[in-house]
Amino acid sequence: MKKLAVYPGSFDPITNGHLDIIERAAALFDEVIVAILNNSAKKSLFTNEERKAQIAPLIKKFKNVKVDFFDGLLVDYMKKTKANACIRGLRAVTDLEYEFTLANINKKLSPKMETIFFMPSEKNTYLSSSVVKEVYQFGGELKDCVPSNIDKALKKKFKK
Ligand code: PNS
Repeated sequence: MKKLAVYPGSFDPITNGHLDIIERAAALFDEVIVAILNNSAKKSLFTNEERKAQIAPLIKKFKNVKVDFFDGLLVDYMKKTKANACIRGLRAVTDLEYEFTLANINKKLSPKMETIFFMPSEKNTYLSSSVVKEVYQFGGELKDCVPSNIDKALKKKFKK
């Protein structure tokens, strides 16, 4: 049976930390769906379509990875796609409380749902979309932390 993993998130924007996890998940699962949360209530820097267009060329090299949107509950999207597991990155202790809640609530809503945590590579431990946005907003750049299309998109957004 085909093993499918869903990697949900805001990806606002995608970073090298996310890509690292996608690459490793793609090596373990038959198929991986990068699922962008389509939530108009959550304020984002990039629109859903912009995020999808940014991610698409980055995952082209992985034949078993695709990008999609989801809204509503993650467990419902997992059921709809018949996914076997949800992938999340766990960077540091600071992530634990939030991820613990998310995984446990999802388990309560859908007992068969498994959450699998990937530790990022050491160089990506402190990397987050929020930090990246803050640095670019104030005129800095983190070229080693984001793919070049994201570096360009952030500079354009903040008119550097
Ligand atoms: O990248 P993020 O913002 O940390 O991702 C969070 C995400 C999208 C995984 C989470 O907010 C989510 O799954 N939202 C969908 C709504 C849902 O299912 N909530 C129940 C769990 S509390």
